[in-house]
Parts: sequence; structure tokens; C-alpha cells
Amino acid sequence: MARVSDLGIDLGTSNVLIYQKGVGIVLRQPAVVAIERTSKKVVAVGTEAYRMIGRTPGNLLTVRPLRQGAVHDLELTNTMLRYFMNSILGRRFFARPRVVLSVPSGVGETDKSSLVSILYDTGVQRTQLLERPIAAAMGARVDFSKPYGCMIVDMGAGATDIAVLAAGQVMHSNCISCGGDAFDGAIISYLRKKHNLLIGERTAEEIKIAIGSAVPPPTDLTCEVTGRNLLMGLPKTQTIHASEIYEALKAPVETLIEAIRSVLEQTPAQLASDVFEDGITLTGGAAALTGLSEAIYNALHTHCVLAEDPQTSIVLGCGMALENYSTYRSLLRDSRRNLH
Ligand SMILES: Nc1ncnc2c1ncn2[C@@H]1O[C@H](COP(=O)(O)OP(=O)(O)OP(=O)(O)O)[C@@H](O)[C@H]1O
Ligand SMILES: [Mg+2]
Repeated sequence: MARVSDLGIDLGTSNVLIYQKGVGIVLRQPAVVAIERTSKKVVAVGTEAYRMIGRTPGNLLTVRPLRQGAVHDLELTNTMLRYFMNSILGRRFFARPRVVLSVPSGVGETDKSSLVSILYDTGVQRTQLLERPIAAAMGARVDFSKPYGCMIVDMGAGATDIAVLAAGQVMHSNCISCGGDAFDGAIISYLRKKHNLLIGERTAEEIKIAIGSAVPPPTDLTCEVTGRNLLMGLPKTQTIHASEIYEALKAPVETLIEAIRSVLEQTPAQLASDVFEDGITLTGGAAALTGLSEAIYNALHTHCVLAEDPQTSIVLGCGMALENYSTYRSLLRDSRRNLH
């Protein structure tokens, strides 16, 4: 049996991406599981489960097993990971690939061991972990090998990792639970307060991507939003302006900027001045919010560059570690299986 080439996995709280050595990205699916409410039986995983969000019949529930940068439901996280791995490895139990895995910064050691055990059960020979900011920097092609400071801000759904890297390592970092989900939450509560309009997470995400902005929008785009009128209890369609969504997003954008400022303040002066000179690299899906680079520049006077296809930076970094294993092996950390 031919050996399946090695795999890089970005296990995100919103999306799971898998890179196959020599091939590229082979899986990109939402980190969602649909279960039966009473029996807890899993009925759909990934894209299929995502389509059911907000549309499930009464007996079904859609769940994101990882939330706010950590494992929320370990059993469902394991089920989801097993499902994605089986879709790639099939029944090739002798395939035994090597895996480079990147997990949210808030995932504890016990949960990591459990994930490594699941990978082993699906046919993985060896799992090595790659720190998120390092994976993001590699994927965004930031050279952090020199003794020169560079900053990576990876803004995913559940969390944002902010790190200053130099000399091949993380010099200073922080992880805050403010990411794309916080933006969606801010839109939900703004529309509830201002228009008595109740919307779901998926609608909020769609509004954010369509007309959301971190700076005052130059043209007032609008979109029609349907939700439930909280006073009447009936469906209601309302025209929402981009300027309103800008207002809604002000607070979480401010939280992000203050967290970046604080990391810079705590970074040794020489490295911080390198960052001011060279700028900040933004990765992660939520960093694609319109005007985010500009808002950071306006507040901190440091220019920002958004990585090309920012949602893929981490998995591309894991892939790069596999493609150039001898160069990057010192950045990888072996993780033990737990003996269950
Ligand atoms: N064009 C866009 N504008 C604004 N936000 C976006 C855009 N595209 C995607 N997003 C947001 O990016 C987030 C998902 O990004 P990503 O896939 O990097 O997260 P993740 O890696 O799964 O999460 P985490 O890193 O927190 O574990 C979601 O909140 C999504 O709404
Ligand atoms: Mg991510």
C-alpha cells in the first residue's frame, strides 16, 4: 500500500483546513457538527452541517465543537477530526502519514493529547505541533529567522493571536478571545438594541462580510436584513446601513487595537521599533474585515499588510514545515498520545 503523503492540519474554531504534502490544500470545511438533540447522534459534519445552521428541524442541533480559541466539546471535536481524516485517508490503515498540527492557543495539554490519539487511531504515525503565530508567519511568508522583530496578528473566528517573532521564535505574544465571532456578536446586539431585530449568527456573519467596516465607510452601502421583530414576534425585513455596522463593530475593533498596542508596549524596545518600521502582517479570516488595516494604522501609525488568502496562512505554514522538513523540524514539538 502506497504511503499517503504527510498532512498539515489547521484545526480552527470556525474552519478546518488540511494540506497534503506535494499536493496543496485538500480539505477546507467549516468546523461544525449537526447532532440529534435527544440521542446526541451525529447526523452531519463540516459543510453539510454548516448548511443546516439556523435551519435545523426541532430535533436537530448544529454545534461548533471548538469555541473562543479552545475545545468546547472534546467528544464532538474528536468525531469531527476523525471524520475529516477518514475522508482523506479512507480505510488505508497502513498509510501512516506524519502530521503537522496547529491548534488554537487555548487548547490545553490534555485536549491536545486526545486529538493526537484520534489522529493515531485514524492511521497517523507521528503528530507534531506547530505554534499558531509561527505557522501563520510561515504561511504568510514572513521571514522571522533574523534577529529582527516582526509582528503577526492572526485573527480567526474565536480568538486572535498577537505575536512578535524574531530569531526564529516567539519573543512576546498574547491571545485574546476577540475574533470574527465577537464581530458577529456585536452586530447581533446592535440590531437587537437599535431595531428590535433578532438575527442569527449566520446572518450576522453575512452582514459583516457584505457591508462591515472597521473605518467609517466611504459610501453608505446598505443591505436588507430579515430577522424577528422582538416586539411583535413576527419576521421583519429592515434596511441596514454600512455606517450602522461600523458603529456596531467599533468596540471589538478597539479591543483588538488595544491588545496590539499592549503587546508592542511589552516588547523589548529594539524589536518594537523593528515592527514600527516594517509593519504588521495580518492573517486569519476575520482580518479580511474591510478597513481593518486602515483602522490599525490610524490608531498605531504602523502599516499593516493583509496576507493573500488570509484564511489559509496557518495551514500553508504547516505545509511548508512538511515540504522543508529538515529546515523547520526544530520548530515542531512532538505531542504524546494519551493512553485511553
Ligand atoms: N471577507 C471577510 N470579512 C470579514 N470577516 C471574514 C471574511 N471572511 C471570513 N471572515 C471571518 O473569518 C472568521 C473565520 O476565519 P478563520 O477560518 O481564519 O477562523 P478559524 O481559524 O477557524 O478560527 P480560530 O483561529 O479562532 O480558531 C469568521 O469569523 C468569518 O466570519
Ligand atoms: Mg485560525
